[in-house]
Amino acid sequence: MRDHLEHYRTRLKVKADINSCNRCPLGDSPHRVPFDGNTWTPKLVLLGEAPGASEAIAHRPFVGASGVYLDHMLAMAGTSREDVTIVNTVCCRPPDNRDPEWSEMAACGSHRLAQVNLARTSFGLTLGRIPLALLTDIPGVSVGKEIDHGFWADEKFWIPTYHPAYALRNRGAESVIVNSIRRALQYVSGELETPVDPKFPNYKVVDGMLIKKHDTSLVPQKYLETWPVFLHREWVVFRHDPEMVRAAKDLRGQKLA
Ligand code: URA
Repeated sequence: MRDHLEHYRTRLKVKADINSCNRCPLGDSPHRVPFDGNTWTPKLVLLGEAPGASEAIAHRPFVGASGVYLDHMLAMAGTSREDVTIVNTVCCRPPDNRDPEWSEMAACGSHRLAQVNLARTSFGLTLGRIPLALLTDIPGVSVGKEIDHGFWADEKFWIPTYHPAYALRNRGAESVIVNSIRRALQYVSGELETPVDPKFPNYKVVDGMLIKKHDTSLVPQKYLETWPVFLHREWVVFRHDPEMVRAAKDLRGQKLA
């Protein structure tokens, strides 16, 4: 309950910070578009590019034609908006629907991170080239070449796929996006094993859950013996056996330390 309240307060703070931001010229517009969706029990974070005209009016991401199509593809993959958190690389609409500048995405970087961190899942999808370029730090990256090649960034495991707007113009991309969503959900359920990223050697996914090796010297001995987990930013598992992982899942939402 206390965690729930804290989470809710953080949601409000992240939104308030975005609504009062003036870090880049895009902030001259009052039409901020913060994250949307389920941040408490999402399966996935979807990282889009930038809000368009409809989103700027509604103050919500993906409400225009791409959003309708995205909902359709989520349904085809067996999920829905209730299971995802939606975030964009920038929270304000670039004029004339141009791509966001690198400097604008950098200015919005801490907002992006705060929004991505709010989503209590370890898995995400990048929609289109821009979020993929941003998270991989490769400006000329090709989505087509990276489809489904998962990678770690911002302490989450991301699956690259096409943007829904691209699928509106190229109907062949629809099945690719649906398959990417399905694949991401297989990582969530543990059906597919998530590789360990050498950049994040302390993170590992067991039974569909991200665990972090932790310096156990910081933890009181009684917790080590009686409780396998406590809440840090992610669940921490001290002994990696299925019993412990199950216990960790049961304890999700409780703070033990
Ligand atoms: N396209 C995006 O990338 N994000 C939105 O919010 C809407 C359209």
